[in-house]
Amino acid sequence: MPLFAPKKTAFKIGLIIGSQRKPRCGDQIADFVLGTIQSHEEQLKLDGKASGKAEITFQVIDIAALNLPLFDEPGVPSQIKDPSGYAHEHTRAWSSTVAGLDGFVFVTPQYNWGIPAGLKNALDYLFNEWKGKPAMVVSYGGHGGDKCAAAMKVVLGGGLHMKVVDKTVNLSFPSRDMLYKAAAGKDLGLDGGSDCCMWAGERSRIIKVWEKMVQSL
Ligand SMILES: Cc1cc2nc3c(=O)[nH]c(=O)nc-3n(C[C@H](O)[C@H](O)[C@H](O)COP(=O)(O)O)c2cc1C
Repeated sequence: MPLFAPKKTAFKIGLIIGSQRKPRCGDQIADFVLGTIQSHEEQLKLDGKASGKAEITFQVIDIAALNLPLFDEPGVPSQIKDPSGYAHEHTRAWSSTVAGLDGFVFVTPQYNWGIPAGLKNALDYLFNEWKGKPAMVVSYGGHGGDKCAAAMKVVLGGGLHMKVVDKTVNLSFPSRDMLYKAAAGKDLGLDGGSDCCMWAGERSRIIKVWEKMVQSL
């Protein structure tokens, strides 16, 4: 290894959709978050303000599409240093996906004041693939899903040793009507554009937390 290895400038970020229901609103919210971040990054480039980390690409990861069984590895993930140590092909595939990513944006609903079981299950499958990587949390719910966000910070930062941004984004449904619409997977009228929608004002918070995460890439 050369003494001065070239600084990495291209980063691949995984945006993880934490909800796996049918119907659901999680995919719309993930699109909104991704659109907000991408339009911010494009604007930075247009303004000539892109940092040395300008080459950022995204991979959307849908927990529903992973189809992981309930955790069924015989070993403890933190003790496994190489994917050949996993017993199952689904774990090796998941390991390869997460190992190939440099940071993570988790977009997740709050379920009963906690983390959705499918998301927690997917997190528990691995350890060294998450360890040391930057992460940010966007939660949503009737009151913004702040309890889920707090639990995520403990799991990601404490349990998995990730560099999780202390501030989280908590998106609140502004009315009962919106909460019912969300639960039924109806169109919430979201888009990542500037004067977009019920969460137009939350876009600056998303960008602030994103920029914090980018600093630790
Ligand atoms: C199992 C379950 C538990 C829920 N618990 C909460 C909760 O603790 N707080 C809250 O604000 N909303 C709660 N909700 C309502 C969700 O915010 C709402 O249904 C939302 O649409 C869920 O996201 P999803 O559609 O992406 O799954 C819960 C919904 C489900 C399905």
